[in-house]
Amino acid sequence: MRNSNGSDSSVKPKNNPRSSARSAGSSPVVLITGASQGIGAATAQVFAREERCRLALVARNVRNLRAVARACRRLGAAAVEVFPCDVGDEAAVAAMADAVTGRFGGVDAIINNAGKFFSAPFLKMSIADFDRIVRANLRSIFLVSRALVPGMVRRRRGDVFNVSSIAGLQAYPGGAAYSSAKFGVTGLSQVMRAELKDKGVRVCCVCPGATFTPSWAGSGVDRKRMMPADDVARAILDVYRLSRRSVVEELVLRPQLGDV
Ligand SMILES: NC(=O)c1ccc[n+]([C@@H]2O[C@H](COP(=O)([O-])OP(=O)(O)OC[C@H]3O[C@@H](n4cnc5c(N)ncnc54)[C@H](OP(=O)(O)O)[C@@H]3O)[C@@H](O)[C@H]2O)c1
Repeated sequence: MRNSNGSDSSVKPKNNPRSSARSAGSSPVVLITGASQGIGAATAQVFAREERCRLALVARNVRNLRAVARACRRLGAAAVEVFPCDVGDEAAVAAMADAVTGRFGGVDAIINNAGKFFSAPFLKMSIADFDRIVRANLRSIFLVSRALVPGMVRRRRGDVFNVSSIAGLQAYPGGAAYSSAKFGVTGLSQVMRAELKDKGVRVCCVCPGATFTPSWAGSGVDRKRMMPADDVARAILDVYRLSRRSVVEELVLRPQLGDV
């Protein structure tokens, strides 16, 4: 059952021998942007339950963030803190990164999930809308990663998941801004992987197709035609759990019946 935050309230606590052996102080720190609803909230809950990790939850809506944080604590996260932040804003991201580092000492995994869908014909796309969508989907990933990946490089260990889209792999009509931003995410991920692979940092580009979240509200598309956010979250967790000798470079997920 999906709650008002768009997260999956059917996720129940489960004992995970692998994770429960860790002390709260040594459990990994996972930072998730766009954690206030949708795929980000679902990912936070899956990591809370399955990894019992420490979570840094980032988004702008504090009320929603706190509700997700409460759910994550109930599910078994070792620690959960919320860090309200506009991830497209350079100064806000720097302050958020300082606060996260002060609280947790650094992060083991970044899930760069924050983003905003927008569709308009190329001939009608305003410059303001183009800039706004690139800022939310692409600049945000550069800013957050640029602030926190150096700590991973110093420790020679880390994971970065950049959430792109099927629209970041193939042209999406109406996506002059969104598809451009998501192609940018796909390209940035390739560059980051190439530059960070010998520094102990794995970079995975996540490319989901239609996934049922609040971003589809009012679209009229049947939710059963789309993937559940929980499936995207579980796929990210499975990739994260692979041995450090392997990297999943791109994670492409589609609804079983194909693109909507
Ligand atoms: N759902 C799909 O079908 C689908 C398909 C392919 C890719 N994706 C991608 O998957 C990601 C999550 O999608 P979703 O469907 O879960 O979206 P959603 O329900 O609209 O949620 C977007 C999340 O991003 C946050 N966010 C947006 N702009 C932000 C900003 N400037 N600063 C901080 N947080 C910001 C929002 O939080 P606040 O509003 O609280 O800040 C919210 O938590 C996005 O990158 C999206 O493009 C989704």
